[in-house]
Formats: sequence, C-alpha cells, structure tokens
Amino acid sequence: MSIALLYERSENDEAGIKQTAQQLGIDLKFIPFRKIALTISKEGFTAKTKGKSYTETLDQTVVVLNRAQSKNRRLQASYILEMFDKKTLNTSQVEFTCYSKLRTLLKLWKAGLPVPKTAFVPCDASDFMKDHKEIHNEADIADLFQMEFPIDDGIVIKADAGTHGKLIMLSKTREELLSNIRETKPNIINPIGVVAQEFIKKWFYDLRIIVYKEKGKQPVCHNKALARAGFKDFRTNTFLGNLVFEAKLPQNVVDLANKCGDTLGKNSEAWIFALDAMVNNADNNKIDEIYLKTQLDIATKEYAPVQKAKIDETRLTNFPVWNNRLEQAFSTYACSSSYQKVKNVLDENIENNKNTLVFHEANSCPEFWENTRLVTGLNVAVPLLKAAQSLIG
Ligand SMILES: Nc1ncnc2c1ncn2[C@@H]1O[C@H](COP(=O)(O)OP(=O)(O)OP(=O)(O)O)[C@@H](O)[C@H]1O
Ligand SMILES: [Mg+2]
Repeated sequence: MSIALLYERSENDEAGIKQTAQQLGIDLKFIPFRKIALTISKEGFTAKTKGKSYTETLDQTVVVLNRAQSKNRRLQASYILEMFDKKTLNTSQVEFTCYSKLRTLLKLWKAGLPVPKTAFVPCDASDFMKDHKEIHNEADIADLFQMEFPIDDGIVIKADAGTHGKLIMLSKTREELLSNIRETKPNIINPIGVVAQEFIKKWFYDLRIIVYKEKGKQPVCHNKALARAGFKDFRTNTFLGNLVFEAKLPQNVVDLANKCGDTLGKNSEAWIFALDAMVNNADNNKIDEIYLKTQLDIATKEYAPVQKAKIDETRLTNFPVWNNRLEQAFSTYACSSSYQKVKNVLDENIENNKNTLVFHEANSCPEFWENTRLVTGLNVAVPLLKAAQSLIG
C-alpha cells in the first residue's frame, strides 16, 4: 500500500519531494506519466513504458500525488487514476476548478470570498464564417468590458488557463484594450472567450499563500506567505524575474485563505492549494517610494548569488549538495538589510490593508522548492506527503 508520485519531468520539486519522503520514512513510488501507455481492456488496466511495466506499482498504489505540470495533463491524470480507484491529490474535481481562473473565481465569489471584479465574454476575438470569411468581435467585446470597467483605471485581460504571467495584459487605453483582446485567440491556455478583470492597485507585490488539509483535520493556512515583488512590470510573477520576500499574514487573511481552501476543496477529503492574492488600494502614501526602490535595487544585487545557485548544474548530479548551497545563498540574502527593510514595508502594508485583499487564482500543483520553501520556511512536500498518508488512513 503506497503513495506514488506522478510526474512529467523530474525537476527540483520532484527531487525535493523524494528527499522529503526519505526523511519522513515514506516509501514513495514514481510514475513517469508522459512515457506511459495506459491501456484498458476486458482484462483490466495496464501501465507500461517501452522498457518497464508500472501496472504492479499502480496496483499497489493507494494515493497518487499528481505533479503533472500541464493543467490538461494533470486534469486527465487525476481523472484516469480515480477511474482506477486511486485517491488523488488533488482530485480531478479540484483540478477542474483550478484549471480555469474563471471557474475558481466563480466558486470563491459564490462563497462570499473577496475576488477582483471579473467579466467573461464567451465570444472569441475573431470567428470564421461558413464561407471562411473572418469576422472581428474585438470592438464589441471591448464595448462590453468598458460598460463594466472604466478604462482609465486599467483593465486586465487574461488567459483563463495561463501560467507564468503569459497573456496577462494591462490596457489603459481603448487601443490597448482592442489590441489585447485581439491577442486572446482560442488556444490551449485560453480555450474560449475573453476574461477581463479590474486592475487591482496592488502597489509592487502580490502574495502566494499555502493552504492545505489532511483527511479528518481542519484546513491549515501557513501564516507566512511568499511575496513576489518588483516595479518592473505590473505582473509580479517570479518567472518574470521579480524578487521574493517573506510576508507575515494577518489573522483575518489566514481565516479567509482557509475558507478559500474549504470552498475549492469541498467534497475532497484532502487538498492543497497555493492561493494567489493581491492587496487592493494599497495604502502606499506613507512611505517614500524612492527609498523603497533603492532598497529593491540593493536587494536585487543581494539576490544574484541565489539565482546563480539555482541554476548550478550540481542539482542534476548531487541534489542534496546543490540544495545546501542554495539554502546558504538564500539565508545570506534573507539576512541582508535591504531584504529586511523591504520585508518591513511589506508587512506593514499588508497589515494596514488587510481588509482589501482579493484572491485571484488557486494553483493546484504549485512550484515550491526554490521559492516558497526558502522564503516561508514551509517545505510544501511535508503537507503534501502527510495529506497523502492521511488518505491511506
Ligand atoms: N487584476 C489584476 N490587477 C493587477 N495585477 C494583476 C491582476 N491580475 C494579475 N495581475 C498580476 O499579474 C500576475 C499574474 O497573474 P495571474 O496570477 O492571474 O497569472 P498566472 O499566469 O497564472 O501567474 P502564475 O503562474 O504565477 O500563477 C499576478 O501575480 C499579478 O501581479
Ligand atoms: Mg498566478
């Protein structure tokens, strides 16, 4: 009876889960999902790569940790494995919700949780008629959005199933709005229609909050979040080169995050989410922005050794050694005075604006080894594995 880690490529998160499982004395099995043929027939199911059968591994598996990276593959993986009577983390129902930002927001909104004002037009930016003639709907879609959001405040157009800040576009003029809507052709990260959102005046950072639940226990929200910060772009994703800081969460935010988890994980016995949140109308007038930008510039230099450690090839040959070096580099960065100064600004800003926070996304398979874990002190592999164990009972 075991727990299996389903993955596409073994990256640092997967190596981290493996290392953590060893430390916790958990016998973890591995399923290289992209290399397997899953077959159903009247004899039952089989799972085979070209060189190896995983059927027995799957037979003995009770819980599958689904770490497939693409949202589509992840949804498919959870669904298939549930059909094979496996418990999944997260379940296909959760994956179905988190796949779409709109579906996530609808659930949170219905539960009375704070989300950015969001509009969806099910029509695509352009269509082809039967005679192959192209018709353009950008202007009509823009009109519909402008009825809801003043363009002067900014309108964010976003791909419903995107990640890493892809196709998240800010429009401050009608021309920009039209051109951004034009970008949203139906594709894998934007299957249908156009999603628009009020531009949240979030100053220079957003938050990633971890919340999880083991079977039979109350949800837990880690009270330290990952703040992703920078002034370069309105998108503060780490993927776009922003800096990371620890942010202390006020109790009301912890309570709200737990409710978000409960809402999204409803009907699942165990779950884990990384919630993305922004602080609206950030009360930033009290602080000198030049001082803050100076500290961020210094912090960028302090962060350079961390970035260097991250890409060091040792990670491929000796993960524990690489990890120790990364931890040391991070600890030096986190002890620097610029880090502490920015962190103080962040903590104060969140505390002062704790009632204006909105949740805008839930990630069902968050990356954690290189940022979330180092910044917040929470090794997400631990709650992941414990939640899986709780499902074994
Ligand atoms: N409505 C908004 N107002 C202001 N900024 C926004 C808004 N929506 C998104 N952003 C910014 O863009 C970033 C990316 O947005 P979002 O989280 O929706 O996309 P993503 O591509 O899924 O990102 P990730 O993969 O990091 O989760 C956010 O971190 C935030 O900084
Ligand atoms: Mg996000």
